[in-house]
Amino acid sequence: MVVPSTTASPVTAAKQFACGAKGQKSCPMQGWMKSVLGPATSSGDPEKLAKALAYVATKPPPGMGEWVTISNDGVAKAKAGDIEGAKTSCKKCHDLYKDTYKRTLRDSPW
Ligand code: HEC
Repeated sequence: MVVPSTTASPVTAAKQFACGAKGQKSCPMQGWMKSVLGPATSSGDPEKLAKALAYVATKPPPGMGEWVTISNDGVAKAKAGDIEGAKTSCKKCHDLYKDTYKRTLRDSPW
């Protein structure tokens, strides 16, 4: 069986978006992450962080099956006052989905 190469194929070439690159406005979710979730995290306010992560949990993109679970893990940690613990959900989701999201979905409404 021939395994199709996933590198440098025209089919997997990055989609072009009118947002997110240098000199462009932020993409919808990217802007929200920066203006809401980032500050909620650095505020050290567990309530704020839990609320923001709960919002993320309500917006799973198609095909990203762990999205809700990861977000809700973060909500639970934040609610327990464990901000550092909640931050592991940031990394988990970013490691798992950020690249794909940025390649395929980043102009979606948020
Ligand atoms: C369930 C998934 C998920 C969770 C949880 C999550 N993120 Fe994100 N985050 C993303 C995705 C997807 C992007 C990429 C959006 C884009 O660039 O279009 C992103 C982008 C970002 C960005 C913008 C980075 C840039 O280069 O512009 C910041 C800042 C960010 N996240 C912070 C956080 C923080 C802080 C947390 C945890 C408190 C967190 N995120 C939790 C999915 C998630």
